[in-house]
Amino acid sequence: MAQILIFLGPPGAGKGTQARVVARKLGIPHISTGDILREAAAKRTGLGLAAKAKMDKGELVPDNVISPIVEERLSRPDCRNGAILDGFPRTIAQAEFLDRILKRTGLGEPLVLNLQVETDSIIRRLTGRRTCSTCGEIYNIHVNPPRQDEVCDKDGGKLIQRADDNEDAIRIRLKAYEQDTLPLIDYYEKKHLLRHVDGSGSPEEITERLLSLLKQDDHL
Ligand code: AP5
Repeated sequence: MAQILIFLGPPGAGKGTQARVVARKLGIPHISTGDILREAAAKRTGLGLAAKAKMDKGELVPDNVISPIVEERLSRPDCRNGAILDGFPRTIAQAEFLDRILKRTGLGEPLVLNLQVETDSIIRRLTGRRTCSTCGEIYNIHVNPPRQDEVCDKDGGKLIQRADDNEDAIRIRLKAYEQDTLPLIDYYEKKHLLRHVDGSGSPEEITERLLSLLKQDDHL
């Protein structure tokens, strides 16, 4: 069944880590708005440079910038069998925009998986994160280090630390999450589209939890 899965949760909840694995298992695209914006920033496009200034500080980019990008991405043929949205929607306005896209394209109602993690572990997860500059594989120097320092196990790419993974930007990102994104829990709960998932434990344990939940809900 074609379905859009939304991975919701605070910064560092493990959305990207899980979305990569689950998308591979389900054979559907993983659409990360953070990755799209970082890629645009690396290519120094107008959008990318404007977004980078906001992202580096930990602020959200405006709804009217990000929403059309997601609309275009979801219109591509590879999303016909569903997709995982990681980092979108992040505001009520984005959720309403997405509702309209899903209705228009016939992709149906989304299933929202809310990864729950204690705030204490978020800072440690984010400050320890390293990402492969070529394939995007996600590591953590504390819990999931690469075999060789600063080198990706998968393709030998250089591992980098995100510009917004410093304590000042993390504080602003957490505030943006509380102010703008937390209301989405209520929004989707009222529509009976939300499932809470315990985001603590090893990444493998969390993948198992997500897959068994999807199985229960007939998505596998
Ligand atoms: P985005 O890239 O979406 O960042 P985020 O939401 O802050 O989430 P993160 O990527 O930091 O965390 P994650 O939950 O994916 O965690 P991960 O799996 O990497 O957005 C960045 C910026 O882009 C925003 O601030 C904004 O400016 C802009 N933006 C993007 N979308 C937007 C939108 N829709 N509207 C407006 N602006 C938007 O894991 C984190 C670390 O923890 C890793 O090191 C990982 O290895 C480790 N880890 C993962 N799982 C575990 C585990 N189980 N145990 C221990 N460690 C773990």
